Amino acid sequence: MSEWTVNELFERMASHGNGAYGLSDVTQLDHALQSADLARQRGMSEAMVIAALFHDCGHLLDIEDVDLASQGIDDRHEQSSADALLPIFGESVSEPVRLHVAAKRYLCSVERDYFDRLSDDSKLSLELQGGTLSSDEIAAFEKHPHFRDGVELRRIDDEAKVAGLDVPGLDAYLDTASRLARKAG
Ligand SMILES: [Fe+2]
Repeated sequence: MSEWTVNELFERMASHGNGAYGLSDVTQLDHALQSADLARQRGMSEAMVIAALFHDCGHLLDIEDVDLASQGIDDRHEQSSADALLPIFGESVSEPVRLHVAAKRYLCSVERDYFDRLSDDSKLSLELQGGTLSSDEIAAFEKHPHFRDGVELRRIDDEAKVAGLDVPGLDAYLDTASRLARKAG
């Protein structure tokens, strides 16, 4: 895949974000905007706000991508999303995104009721993504420099599925994203 610019990312999100987000009642764009808004409300860094906005962008950049999870296939969208974000924004944006699926496996392993609170499609994809972690894998995950951001992004991801919620649109994030990209470049 060729490298994307900030403007291309935003345009792609605007033009291709209308598909359903998994089995939920919100679109991909709703989910992205709710995620970014939660990061902002929680006072997270600008990098985390942009990571939240684009954490699933791999779904939108690869137009061949259909809902693979429902067909029993792990789409590994965290890798395609992070790979697209790394050259534009650097690791503070890309690496929490890369970890957000592993963070689900981690939280299912260390928090007793986390799995029960997951949406149906997140429960369905857990096994495809490798299931829960062993104690060695938990310890290794906690050593990752972006571990905490990955876990916080995951919690946002889980919550950003509210049908009909009114949140700021894409334009609200263009200046921040452009500034981060210039800093990284
Ligand atoms: Fe997501």
